[in-house]
Amino acid sequence: MIPVEIKILFENHSGFKKGFLGGHGFSALIEHKNYRILVDTGTDGETLLKNMEALNINPNKIDYLFLTHGHYDHTGGIKALLERRSKSLPIVAHPDIFVKRVALKPHLRNISLPFSKEELEALGAEFILVKEPFQIVENIWSSGEIERKTWSREVGYRVKNGKLIKDDVRDDMALILDLGDVMGVITGCGHSGILNIIMHAQNLLNKPVKALIGGFHLIGSNEKLLKDAIRGLKELGVQKLYAGHCTGFEAIASFMHTFGKNVEPLYVGKVIEF
Ligand SMILES: [Fe+2]
Ligand SMILES: [Fe+2]
Repeated sequence: MIPVEIKILFENHSGFKKGFLGGHGFSALIEHKNYRILVDTGTDGETLLKNMEALNINPNKIDYLFLTHGHYDHTGGIKALLERRSKSLPIVAHPDIFVKRVALKPHLRNISLPFSKEELEALGAEFILVKEPFQIVENIWSSGEIERKTWSREVGYRVKNGKLIKDDVRDDMALILDLGDVMGVITGCGHSGILNIIMHAQNLLNKPVKALIGGFHLIGSNEKLLKDAIRGLKELGVQKLYAGHCTGFEAIASFMHTFGKNVEPLYVGKVIEF
């Protein structure tokens, strides 16, 4: 298998070791050959940088940032990360990440990427905004926009011409790791629906999925959807699930019931090696 190492830097759970901070959000560092790709930045830079320090990760040694989508809990740490670096940072994302979005529950709140493009560019961000599949480095791909063939996990509203329209989070993309005979798929929130994400990844690389890693956004899902997700993942041949962030405790417990030891919950500091 092509070697890849994944370190969880931002997660809702801080795990069992001293020195890590938990927080609502997701971030993971992918190390492959001489490349380091950061996936998302969590909700805040303070937590992200503290966890990076605890894991001995030098912010200047990150080659690319990949953003799974524009929600604040995946993008809030960008500014502090750029400020900590002494050089520019290429950022791969969907063109819609800067769209203004709100959630109405439990109260009206802004859930957009909390900085402007110009503000981040002034700090060294070099945006590569593409909605087609895009090879970032050898063996590592941005999925591009994901076709919705079955259910997806829409959340919140977009603000368009002063009106609220349901947000299908079209900017949701996944990172795909070509591991040789198999592949790995990393999702932020999985708003496109985890089954759509897996089908899309298989269309691109046509390899069995060794591991699905990240947030699967099944929190608050009804029993039917959960059963459908479990059945779908089995049918699609996904071998191992590393589930965290917005997957939800109930979904993780259900996955464990079906997949046994092939389910591992995520926490800050967790290292996954292929
Ligand atoms: Fe999220
Ligand atoms: Fe999200």
